[in-house]
Amino acid sequence: MTSSNLPASLDLTGRCALVTGGSRGIGRAIATVLAARGAHVAVNYARGEAAANEVVSAIEAEGGKALAVGFDVSDADAVKEGFKQVGEALGGLDILVNNAGISIDALLMRVKEDDWEALQRVNLRGTLLCSKAAARPLLKAKTRGRIINLTSVVGEQGNAGQSMYAATKAGVIGMTKSLAREFSSRGCTVNAVAPGFIQTDMTDAALQGDAREALLGNIPLGRIGAPDEIAEAVAFLASDAAAYITGHVLRVNGGLLI
Ligand SMILES: NC(=O)c1ccc[n+]([C@@H]2O[C@H](COP(=O)([O-])OP(=O)(O)OC[C@H]3O[C@@H](n4cnc5c(N)ncnc54)[C@H](OP(=O)(O)O)[C@@H]3O)[C@@H](O)[C@H]2O)c1
Repeated sequence: MTSSNLPASLDLTGRCALVTGGSRGIGRAIATVLAARGAHVAVNYARGEAAANEVVSAIEAEGGKALAVGFDVSDADAVKEGFKQVGEALGGLDILVNNAGISIDALLMRVKEDDWEALQRVNLRGTLLCSKAAARPLLKAKTRGRIINLTSVVGEQGNAGQSMYAATKAGVIGMTKSLAREFSSRGCTVNAVAPGFIQTDMTDAALQGDAREALLGNIPLGRIGAPDEIAEAVAFLASDAAAYITGHVLRVNGGLLI
């Protein structure tokens, strides 16, 4: 893995990054691309220790640097302990990617309060707790400091059956814009990436048969996205090339929402 052929403004050599939910899907792709650009990456997981270790091994096999760190982003004590471990291992933090997320779909009449609580805990509380735990080192990193939050196309346009999930993702956009204002005095940027439909475990069941065909008909580029296409957007926002972009929601959705 080498970053030597990249324009200097995209190179992340020497940057320290933490990707929450880096064990699978979009998070795995983000961890892999950040490492390929030269960053030393902490790969967080909740339950998938073996999967996270596999991501670390794959990065190391390509000459990159990574470590796995397990904690539940919605557990305040575990987050504090996890960030302490990462700080000790990496010697600082420049880039936080709040990617960990869950989705539970239900039409309003079938919504369960426990599901609503769970979605808020992981998608919103988790993003807030990790951002808070990262604040000191990121502010110290000054113009290298980055928070990149994963929101969703449905946080902007809504979707039948996704009122709970969409509300948490809309909340992430509000949090992103507020933190962009808070962090800007030190040159740190805070942005969000809003994927459309990306092929991962999260969307696998929904992207089958007739539902898949109906969805494809609404995507101008005519295909489901790949995790790497989200990772490329995140790596750009993490780089010096994006130093003057803050409070932005970058849509990566094949034209599903324009
Ligand atoms: N896929 C899409 O089409 C799509 C579209 C828009 C937005 N997004 C957003 O993109 C992000 C990644 O989605 P994905 O499709 O890659 O999901 P995924 O395949 O289901 O992977 C979710 C990741 O989050 C981790 N995670 C879940 N709960 C956690 C917790 N409490 N603490 C720490 N880690 C936790 C999982 O780790 P373990 O395996 O260890 O549990 C896993 O690594 C999410 O925020 C999602 O909302 C996805």
